[in-house]
Amino acid sequence: MIPGIPALPYSAHSSERTGCTPDTEWFRTAVFYEVLLRAYADSNGDGFGDFPGLSSRLDYLAWLGVDAIWIPPFYPSPLRDGGYDIADYTAVDPRYGTLDDFDALVEAAHARGIRVVIDLVLNHTSDAHPWFQASRTDPDGPYGNFYVWADDDRGYDQTRIIFVDTEDSNWSFDEVRGQYYWHRFFSHQPDLNYDEPAVFEAVADLIRFWAERGVDGFRLDAIPYLIEREGTNCENLPGTHDIIARIRALLDAEYPGVITIAEANQMPEEVVEFFGTEERPECTMCFHFPIMPRIYLSLREGSPRSIRQVLAETPSIPAHGQWGTFLRNHDELTLEMVSDEERALMYGWYAPEPRMRANVGIRRRLASLLGDSRAEIELAHALLLSLPGSPCLYYGDEVLMGENIWLADRDAVRTPMQWDSSANMGFSAVSDASRLSLPLIEAEGYAQRNVADALADPASFLHTLRGMLAVRRQHPVLGTGDFELIDAGDERILAYLRRGKDSGTDADAAAGRPAGEVLVCVANLADEAVAGRLSVGEWDASAVRPLLSVGEGARAVSSSLGEDGALEIALPARGFQWFAVERALA
Ligand code: GLC
Repeated sequence: MIPGIPALPYSAHSSERTGCTPDTEWFRTAVFYEVLLRAYADSNGDGFGDFPGLSSRLDYLAWLGVDAIWIPPFYPSPLRDGGYDIADYTAVDPRYGTLDDFDALVEAAHARGIRVVIDLVLNHTSDAHPWFQASRTDPDGPYGNFYVWADDDRGYDQTRIIFVDTEDSNWSFDEVRGQYYWHRFFSHQPDLNYDEPAVFEAVADLIRFWAERGVDGFRLDAIPYLIEREGTNCENLPGTHDIIARIRALLDAEYPGVITIAEANQMPEEVVEFFGTEERPECTMCFHFPIMPRIYLSLREGSPRSIRQVLAETPSIPAHGQWGTFLRNHDELTLEMVSDEERALMYGWYAPEPRMRANVGIRRRLASLLGDSRAEIELAHALLLSLPGSPCLYYGDEVLMGENIWLADRDAVRTPMQWDSSANMGFSAVSDASRLSLPLIEAEGYAQRNVADALADPASFLHTLRGMLAVRRQHPVLGTGDFELIDAGDERILAYLRRGKDSGTDADAAAGRPAGEVLVCVANLADEAVAGRLSVGEWDASAVRPLLSVGEGARAVSSSLGEDGALEIALPARGFQWFAVERALA
């Protein structure tokens, strides 16, 4: 029970919160929340967050308005890569609880209408995995060919290194087998060899294992790299797409409705390949990596130039697909998808201290990145929640948590959730704070922030965000609708239509189709007030209704009807608004 959060039976959104519907399109209107189990809530006082702890916080997530949680790896692991180094795919690391605790979490989440997405790390295992141990000791045995082995380290030399901070080659020598093995990430994470058919069969079995336990989706970790071929950069190869299509076919045949979300940190024209085609679908969702840094870039440029550009470069996607959007996650804020010039600018703006950087990116959290500017934080969320795709929040950002740049690597942004002002910020009852999975942050101002205080303050960002999520919930077109950039008469304003499929065009009306929903979203990226005018075309500008109240972040945006029927808008610095355009049907 969390003070300030009603226990079940749940009151807010009660009609929608009576359990998960069988709707297979749920992901289109869903708001996701990434929760690091290790850092969320410790139920047994051992210093590690765990499944019972997360289960005890589901009422909070339901209150906030979250539709799905994504839980990064919780499997047994040496934890040398935050758990993405998996030593056993079909068990729960004892520090997080048991399989029964996992089942209880799924059941409790579903009872609240919250779906559960877990991570599937297909590309590599930990070197502690029994498959690797067997492969290195028994090359002729059943696992001998499970990894990518070679006699020298010269192969695939056109392949980039991803973890540039720690690795200088994608090959490492194994003393036991006397050969080199291939790894796209840390040297303790050997890549699986998908040219060996038994590897896919083994992966198929572990997909079934978790799907049987009722998960609603899998985030497919690091999927561009599954197959290697000489003379290529070993990314997005046809064989890799074959494997993802086979996973989709398996799920569609055996567990229809279970979604896959691609982690492919690439430009839009490459990422769309991971949706596959109508005939041969691959992923249900793909994270849109390039748009994320451009939201931050735009705020400092005071112009949505780069957002417009990347949206223009984003191809349309097959009908089964949906983008996933995010502002932060458990990794560095990756700057791989911006130009060299933009990256240099962003490092200067957002990571002035070298310690704030990691690999090709920035290891800081949302609130501190944006200098704690409430207006910028709200504007970033207004974009996140209204641009095409389903948004994913990162735990702790809703209470404006900060980072600890004195911790190694990406641990800077993986510190314990701050629930209240009691010992260990309510995360854990462990008496010796040195046993916490990671130390709490100490940064001035940030260390005190917590859920309980934010709940008690009606003006907190937590309440603002909840209000925005509620408005989004009332307007499914923000998840399902078409997207069209429109002119707002001033370059600094990003304006777009979100339009339902049968949205009351003249053609619709002539065909007797009912008018669908149309929203106009406007955002002023500039740090000064801006005026603009919108021509809302064949819709009736006199029937324009603002949806967000000031309490929900929209800062006193005023609108009026111009003489020619256009909508005149005045946006304060960083102001935004979503308008419903109600077509006056004769
Ligand atoms: C993914 C994860 C990241 C991890 C990497 C290697 O990119 O998001 O945290 O380090 O895969 O497993």
